[in-house]
Amino acid sequence: MTNTLTAPTAARGLVEITGVRKSFGATEVLKGVSLTVEPGGVAVIVGPSGSGKSTLLRTINHLEKVDGGHITIDGQLVGYEVRGDRLYELREKEILKQRTGIGMVFQNFNLFPHLTALENVAEAPVVAQGRSKEEARRRGLELLDRVGLKDRADAYPRQLSGGQQQRVAIARALALDPKILLFDEPTSALDPELVNEVLDVIRELATSGTTLVIVTHEMGFARDVADTVVFMDQGQIVEQGTPQQIFSNPQEPRTRSFFSKVLEPAFNI
Ligand SMILES: Nc1ncnc2c1ncn2[C@@H]1O[C@H](COP(=O)(O)OP(=O)(O)O)[C@@H](O)[C@H]1O
Ligand SMILES: [Mg+2]
Repeated sequence: MTNTLTAPTAARGLVEITGVRKSFGATEVLKGVSLTVEPGGVAVIVGPSGSGKSTLLRTINHLEKVDGGHITIDGQLVGYEVRGDRLYELREKEILKQRTGIGMVFQNFNLFPHLTALENVAEAPVVAQGRSKEEARRRGLELLDRVGLKDRADAYPRQLSGGQQQRVAIARALALDPKILLFDEPTSALDPELVNEVLDVIRELATSGTTLVIVTHEMGFARDVADTVVFMDQGQIVEQGTPQQIFSNPQEPRTRSFFSKVLEPAFNI
């Protein structure tokens, strides 16, 4: 283990995943995954159900512990520290602190049902960062405005459509000013007519300088926003490259076979 692992760099939001392995019981679901996402980059992970996409995403903010390999953000190990030549898991408090730099948006929104849209967005900055309620509220309104929901600030989740709830969840993830945002199938639970309002918000974020790692089945969206498309199958990255390379000229038979099933024949790159 070299000490480059612990030396923070000036970059903001550089994700380096190196040889990550993860098993659930006897099943190895990540079989040595390595991936670099540059600061401000947009990586879109695609692949069949069960290929390990969500597990990989969850290792980035240490919601899953890794069994082998490691992940760094801006050169700093996620979830562990090096002492001597060994890795030790960080204490819960340290893990939570690290996690404030990494926002996550889930398929099912995960909003607090008893809090309004604005309260959902303004809660974490007060609790996790010690900001004043007034400041968190002001910033919360700005963020709701950014996702087109300023006029719904006082609505409860049950009074909002799925697309609106997901946009609140994105505003909430932004409230801690994360270097990195992780999206796990953010539109999969939505009615088709609500998908675009959420994708449009993510498109805007893609140009904002925040590093994005997105798991999605929306291939047109992936083609538009990704710097890097990553194709995963059976716990491994089979192939990665620009959207052009991966959609138009995949090299691996498994990639070709997957896209021949999920892409419309008229899909244009
Ligand atoms: N907490 C868990 N316990 C046991 N098995 C799990 C757990 N989470 C995921 N798995 C298994 O790991 C594999 C990869 O899952 P997942 O990362 O959710 O894939 P994907 O997101 O690509 O559909 C699947 O076989 C899944 O059943
Ligand atoms: Mg998944």
